[in-house]
Amino acid sequence: MSKRILIIMAMAAEARPIIDQLGLHELPANPQLQSHFPRFQGEFAGKEIVISLNGKSTEYGVDRIGTEFAALSTQSAIVEFAPDLIINAGTCGAFSADADIADIITSDQPVVYHDHRVPLKGFDRFAMGAYPTAYCPEYFQGIEHKPGVITTGNSLDMPDIDRQWIMQNQGMAKEMECAAVAATAHLYGIDFLPIKSVTDHIDIDIELDNVEQFLNNLSKASQKLSETLIRVLTNIK
Ligand code: ADE
Repeated sequence: MSKRILIIMAMAAEARPIIDQLGLHELPANPQLQSHFPRFQGEFAGKEIVISLNGKSTEYGVDRIGTEFAALSTQSAIVEFAPDLIINAGTCGAFSADADIADIITSDQPVVYHDHRVPLKGFDRFAMGAYPTAYCPEYFQGIEHKPGVITTGNSLDMPDIDRQWIMQNQGMAKEMECAAVAATAHLYGIDFLPIKSVTDHIDIDIELDNVEQFLNNLSKASQKLSETLIRVLTNIK
């Protein structure tokens, strides 16, 4: 049986290039789910591929970025498609010393949260999390990439307390879904691999703040993400 790979992505704009380049077809909405997670399916390099998106907010008309809908998207797609591997693909912020715009970051270390702080014994470690990844150097053969700590929170900005936590954990990629997807994959005992492309430098305070950088670089980073995903999917045996 061919390997089933589930790719969780938050934003439609991040996913468009890979959906088009793989020629995936959109699946009908699952009537059992209260909430629509747009899903795209097809075959590539001898693998069955499903991409599941966080979907759009009916109230606000924007992509439901962040941890809640990433976890719901992941769990419902696991139940429906029983994947062998889950990839969380998306964009991230990074310190300028670590990575340039559109660089690819993955991780061979546990994924953590940087804005989930509970200073009570036991709860503190639970809140920060440490969810495993299934990084294999062979998956990235011939692909320029940087392995580092991926750190998740529900905000695009970075208040001082978040910066402190990110630095304490030696975070390389700051983003908004990875730990939630990794936690869900871990719950079901499924291998998990993050692949992130940099849209903004979180330490540069020039005329463009990181929100503007994110918008300016989203298309370039999503294109690079798509090229990288195609090469990783080809490398996976
Ligand atoms: N996604 C892309 N850039 C980000 C940032 N700076 N913070 C959180 N998520 C991001």
